Amino acid sequence: MTPPDSTFSKISPEATRSMCRRVSNAYSIDDLRRLAKKRLPRAIYDFYDGGAESESTLRANSTAFAQHVIQPRYLVNVEQIKTAVDLLGSPSALPIAVSPTGGIGFGWPLGDTAIARAAGAAGIPYTLPTSSTSSIERVAHVAPGTRLWFQAYMLRKREFTMSLIDRAFAAGYEVLVLTVDMPIGGKRERDLRNDFGLPFKLTPRNLLDFATSPAWVSSVLRHGMPQLENLLGFTPDAVSSTTIASSVGKNYDPAFDWDALRQIRDRWPRKLLVKGILHQDDARLVADAGCDGVIVSNHGGRQLDGAIASLDALGPIAEAVGDRITVLLDGGVRRGADIVKAIAMGAHAVMVGRPMLYGVCAAGEVGARRALSLLEEELVRTMRLSGTRTIAEIREGLLVR
Ligand SMILES: Cc1cc2nc3c(=O)[nH]c(=O)nc-3n(C[C@H](O)[C@H](O)[C@H](O)COP(=O)(O)O)c2cc1C
Repeated sequence: MTPPDSTFSKISPEATRSMCRRVSNAYSIDDLRRLAKKRLPRAIYDFYDGGAESESTLRANSTAFAQHVIQPRYLVNVEQIKTAVDLLGSPSALPIAVSPTGGIGFGWPLGDTAIARAAGAAGIPYTLPTSSTSSIERVAHVAPGTRLWFQAYMLRKREFTMSLIDRAFAAGYEVLVLTVDMPIGGKRERDLRNDFGLPFKLTPRNLLDFATSPAWVSSVLRHGMPQLENLLGFTPDAVSSTTIASSVGKNYDPAFDWDALRQIRDRWPRKLLVKGILHQDDARLVADAGCDGVIVSNHGGRQLDGAIASLDALGPIAEAVGDRITVLLDGGVRRGADIVKAIAMGAHAVMVGRPMLYGVCAAGEVGARRALSLLEEELVRTMRLSGTRTIAEIREGLLVR
């Protein structure tokens, strides 16, 4: 595997080769997760890996997939497999898009751009979060061939959110993803225990953790502490990225409602997805508001602990909206078989968050590409082994119980 990632230019050739070798020997998303865990300080790994409170929703996202089984059909000619789909009016090589995940640069310098480029190489969309460590414009510049979507939260300073949306429009982002499951931030206890509260600071409790992760420390020394580039200027007195992140966390707008959603619909003329929908009545209202789709999601178990698993919410939502809007799902997708199950249960495609974080934290763009190629290989294998040749055939016929 050759490293296309510019951040490798600052690493010795020997270290680069060994990183690429380790990634080639990762045979599953879980293997990439182990590599990421080894490289990162515990506090950062836990920030990516963890969920809210007892993490019961985080676990439920995975166990929901395990509770459904595929009943395959055989004696079907499965020589030719087609994984391409139409997603919101444009082609995607796989029924996968990348979910927005904030703060990626803490795990790998310019990690957002690395994942965006990996998504482009795989022919699938990438969603840049508001709290990214590379700006809207930077990502558009370095990943020109990638289908770019932009994720926004409604902040109390609504005009600031609107200015981000306008910037995304000007930079050519094709889809706006509006996250609605965060009227306030979730309680992530791993972060509290690790003293990874924001604003980020080295404390006696976490100092040892950071100091004993040499690969991570040397990458911060080479590239500097990441900035939440979209949020520069959010609060004039905020100087560091983590201070800004903290102000953003306190500034989600709990008053954001259906009327406000309709205003965004009027302002954004391109495709609009609403992320964080778990109830069929809400999905119907999203369709009524003229939006183009929903992302069935519980924020990867990071917000409301005790919330329904995404896969369990999917069926009733798909049934409620029929073909009026696009239905995507994220949360717990780790295998090709998970993708097949979600599609068989009504999703047009899935999205993946942590699998990309594990990949990029293991080895930058090479690791992100590996995550997508593993999912693609497993998807194709599952389709062959279950007698389905196209994504449409999975939607129509594959029996999942
Ligand atoms: C570290 C981390 C940061 C996230 N940041 C955001 C964010 O900024 N905006 C957002 O809408 N969702 C965010 N999410 C949620 C993801 O978009 C997605 O819903 C979730 O990761 C899907 O579950 P999965 O990780 O099991 O694939 C984040 C998730 C993680 C793990």
